Amino acid sequence: MKITDTIKEVRENVKAWRTEGLTVGFVPTMGYLHEGHQSLIRMAAKENDRVVVSIFINPLQFGEKEDLDNYPENFEHDRNICELEGAALIFRPSREEMYSKNFCSYVDMTGLTDTLCGKSRPNHFRGVCTVVTKLFNAVNPDRAYFGWKDAQQVAVVKRMVSDLNMDIEIVACETIREADGLAKSSRNVHLNSEERKAATILQKALKLAEKKIASGIRTSRDIQKAMIEMIDSEAGVKIDYVEIVDLETMKPISDIEAPALIAAAIYVGNTRLIDNYIYGI
Ligand code: PAF
Repeated sequence: MKITDTIKEVRENVKAWRTEGLTVGFVPTMGYLHEGHQSLIRMAAKENDRVVVSIFINPLQFGEKEDLDNYPENFEHDRNICELEGAALIFRPSREEMYSKNFCSYVDMTGLTDTLCGKSRPNHFRGVCTVVTKLFNAVNPDRAYFGWKDAQQVAVVKRMVSDLNMDIEIVACETIREADGLAKSSRNVHLNSEERKAATILQKALKLAEKKIASGIRTSRDIQKAMIEMIDSEAGVKIDYVEIVDLETMKPISDIEAPALIAAAIYVGNTRLIDNYIYGI
């Protein structure tokens, strides 16, 4: 497995593979890899001849008060996971390599990014779209892999790829969870033991939504209300949002029709966690 910090070297490697007729899968990450990322790399290795994993903590997608400076890092651990899952190349650029001094071009979107995380994190998706475009241009993959845990990110990236005619297949993979249901996330490391216990309320509320939908309830307001009541009953937890939206457009829906996204974000102490249940895919 190769490791490089330059776009030039990534391009040279991918070009050489392409000359041999090999396909390329790409897993963009911000590092501190967990089983969720691991499953993406494994899937990419299954479906492509070569896999590139990028590790870059993208400053553009963090808000001013967000945890950019505390974002966890552990390159040795990340390298072992990439090696274990069969990645051929790790692209680990510096901030300077990605954003030159005079950088001033952005990829932005309207509509899809106004709800859910886009509402509470203004400019977050502009940062995601910009960096993902830059990474796609550097790696030039056949397929790119994203986790359903960030369902809005999946919708946004799919829309961007379609709108901007990028010739890349976006593959969304299932959320990987801890034994008690908490979705794997690099941010879980910030939870103390009390917060870790409280955090399971997010999955419990989504399970409640799933059960209600399975029982035939289709009114978003009723399901939202039940979820909010449940989450509010947990001490030390604050709701950012509980929303029910169309999976593709991210627009709120009053009656649940497949495919629908039931998504929630909560603060447990200072840590913001997101998770979702997707109905009908
Ligand atoms: O999902 C993430 O970790 C990031 O948003 C991504 C796609 C790597 C872009 O920085």
